[in-house]
Amino acid sequence: MRIPCAYANWKMHKTLPEALEFIYEFVPALFRDVKEGDVGVTIFPPAPYIWPIRQELGDDSPIFIGSQNIYTEKEGAFTGELSGNILRSAGASHILVGHSERRHKLDESNELVGRKLDRVIRDRLFPVLCVGELLRDREAGRTKEVVKEQLEAAWTGQEVTGGAIIAYEPVWAIGTGKNAEPRDAQEMCEYIRTWIAEYFTPETAASIRILYGGSVNPENISQYARLPDVDGALVGGASLDPGSFAAIAKAIAHSGGAR
Ligand code: 13P
Repeated sequence: MRIPCAYANWKMHKTLPEALEFIYEFVPALFRDVKEGDVGVTIFPPAPYIWPIRQELGDDSPIFIGSQNIYTEKEGAFTGELSGNILRSAGASHILVGHSERRHKLDESNELVGRKLDRVIRDRLFPVLCVGELLRDREAGRTKEVVKEQLEAAWTGQEVTGGAIIAYEPVWAIGTGKNAEPRDAQEMCEYIRTWIAEYFTPETAASIRILYGGSVNPENISQYARLPDVDGALVGGASLDPGSFAAIAKAIAHSGGAR
């Protein structure tokens, strides 16, 4: 069974007081007409806010906190990097791996993404593997090829369970206001699920959650939330405002529920 998800990637935005203010407004706005269990919400704030947000939410909150990045090694002399153990002890349960901004602005290769995914799985955290093509790949008809290369490079023999999440985020749709056509998002999420069925097992494919990301907002989310292979959204810009992210999470929760 796949509970749909609403994930907020704040990227490099907000001060700590602004982050705490968000939580203060978002939680009541979300649970005004959504029941716990109708939608899985995870917030990926800047790393120094993981612990204060966890504290603000309290131990029994159903809202998860994630990290936007992780390092490949378990521990050691790696100044400035963050391990899975450090992130978990600060309150993170989910880790973004291979976000397009890290691939394209910070030069993370498919190979490095694979090593990070490996670390997340070994450390028993929930990976959120991001994949997606550049505009030139789509225009050249290479969308599926590029996404397949990213998937194959990331999974280098690790075990995978239904707890893993994949986000399909076409790079040209991120932060541009040019969201993908719902039929294209469905086609790619279905393609990813079929790949998982062939590479792992049909049972894993049926339980893994696949999200769409790229210029999602409260106005367009319902078009995606009802697609059969799209289990929710990874939201950037529109997740910075508590009212707007609560509206997106509610639309996902009310989209027909678990699949
Ligand atoms: P936008 O929603 O701002 O397009 O960002 C999407 C994204 O990159 C989420 O990880």
